[in-house]
Amino acid sequence: MRSGTRRRRWPARSRGYGRSPRATARSRSTAADDRARSGRFLACGSTFTDWIAMSPVLAIYPGSFDPITMGHVDIIQRGARLFERIVVAVLINADKAPLFSVQERVDIAREVFRDRANVEVDTFDGLLVDYARRKQAGVIVKGLRAVSDFEYEMQMALMNRRLNPELETVFMMPTEPYTYVSSRLVKEVVALGGSVKGIVPDIVERRLREKKLARETLRA
Ligand code: PNS
Repeated sequence: MRSGTRRRRWPARSRGYGRSPRATARSRSTAADDRARSGRFLACGSTFTDWIAMSPVLAIYPGSFDPITMGHVDIIQRGARLFERIVVAVLINADKAPLFSVQERVDIAREVFRDRANVEVDTFDGLLVDYARRKQAGVIVKGLRAVSDFEYEMQMALMNRRLNPELETVFMMPTEPYTYVSSRLVKEVVALGGSVKGIVPDIVERRLREKKLARETLRA
């Protein structure tokens, strides 16, 4: 080594190779942040023009949420970390007889995510792809709990892709303890007198108890 030249522990080279792990991690996250801010994620098969027409940093998480469970909350939190904004889109479905009204479901979700600035709650009816186009969203987020979810979810994802090839469906898995949780089971357990503490947000548990009490009082 020449005198006066200090040997670098991590020789500075371009594009991360040979840089300290900390410096590499820092530059990677900066690049990811820049991409997220500019909204320029390129997906396989998409053209740049496709992608600038829609915002891949705006994601929609659609569902009935009757009621919202900790499994949903887990997926929304994951989505909120991955995308700049995520819209929880509550389906207005006139055919079903829901336990909670659409307004109740919206109010509950807003309460659950009141501290998350990048989580919005909205309602939609009609085709999901049309709603996504109106919102200029580039991504649909869906949760996959088990293999049993896969077939139906794949059908919907492929149908949505056929209806709008520029809209990408991204699947995420909830944390293991919530993989068996569903809104249907939650309602059944509560109706039969069981506890759903811990698998639904506290506000949902309270509202379920209130609803059950109200129904029992009406029957008495
Ligand atoms: O929580 P759910 O009930 O499983 O959610 C289902 C939902 C809302 C995601 C799905 O029914 C839907 O996307 N409905 C909108 C109507 C639509 O676009 N149908 C065609 C789907 S391929």
